Amino acid sequence: MFNRVARRAFSSTAASNYKVAVLGAAGGIGQPLSLLMKLNNKVTDLALYDLRGAPGVAADVSHVPTNSTVKGYGPEEEGLKQALSGADVVIIPAGVPRKPGMSRDDLFNTNASIVRDLASAAGDYCPKAALCIISNPVNSTVPIVAETLAKKGAYDPKKLFGVTTLDILRASRFISEVANTNPTQEKVSVVGGHSGVTIVPLISQTTHKGLPKDKLDALINRIQFGGDEVVKAKNGAGSATLSMAQAGARFAGSVLNGLAGEADVVENSYVENPVFAKEGVKFFSTPITLGPEGVKEYHAIGETSDLEDQLIATAKETLKKNIEKGVNFVEQTS
Ligand code: NAI
Repeated sequence: MFNRVARRAFSSTAASNYKVAVLGAAGGIGQPLSLLMKLNNKVTDLALYDLRGAPGVAADVSHVPTNSTVKGYGPEEEGLKQALSGADVVIIPAGVPRKPGMSRDDLFNTNASIVRDLASAAGDYCPKAALCIISNPVNSTVPIVAETLAKKGAYDPKKLFGVTTLDILRASRFISEVANTNPTQEKVSVVGGHSGVTIVPLISQTTHKGLPKDKLDALINRIQFGGDEVVKAKNGAGSATLSMAQAGARFAGSVLNGLAGEADVVENSYVENPVFAKEGVKFFSTPITLGPEGVKEYHAIGETSDLEDQLIATAKETLKKNIEKGVNFVEQTS
């Protein structure tokens, strides 16, 4: 009897005993994201890494009374190795954000090498971890991580995710403003990539497919370029951080739910995806089911309108170039 109870207690703890590492944890996204991960009861070990400031963020967050230990690491004393060793999930918001007038692609030169080096360390120290990439341009940084890991023989396509959840959150919010509905009840599938025209919200799959053309066009444009509203309002002080932290925490939470074997955990994410692979578009965001192995199932895009078909065609053309740019970067620099 004692053994059975003890065993049950052990197995339920084991199912929610995860180490999560946040790389870039002292940044605008990293700080609130670290706080939100501290509030996730599946996380028992939270490792916060940044070039500067992570021990302070860790000390602060560690006082929140949830069941996890929090440690902060800098680059000294093999901090990155310590942060990554044993991690089940690694979330990467390290890099520079946009300033007004910049596209996400303008960040490539700075962020590409940051992401490559962090991915390489993840390949060395936690090759089995699920990697959630937030650093922009996501359309290219995800292929950079894939190529970097592949060179080490540590690439598992089922465990590499570009975080596009903010587009999903924006779509729910913005559609509720147009339709005067409760945003918590609005679910919009957003497919493609994570920048401008590669962001394709599938409004025809919602209950609002009858929107007049002018309202529909404006809504799609706002979802595609919603990030610009924040960049402009912050006026040089960066891009979305708080809503992004919420989006990142939701996505990483779903990855953890999948690892724990929960049923029907579905999110959209930019992953190596069979959907348009034959046309040369290796990475594409569609709904996926998350499971213990990472991606458990790739879902079809579903029915789309003629307008959405055109948007997907445009997205594919841009994505091909973004992906190629990432792949070439790794080939040329390693
Ligand atoms: P931030 O500048 O406030 O923070 C970035 C942090 O990364 C800093 O603390 C910096 O010290 C750290 N960092 C830089 N190089 C590093 C390295 N090699 N190792 C570890 N840490 C390093 O920037 P913010 O606003 O947090 O944005 C971070 C990234 O997230 C940007 O690339 C931004 O474009 C992207 N982003 C992505 C979104 C998405 O939907 N996927 C939405 C919003 C932003």
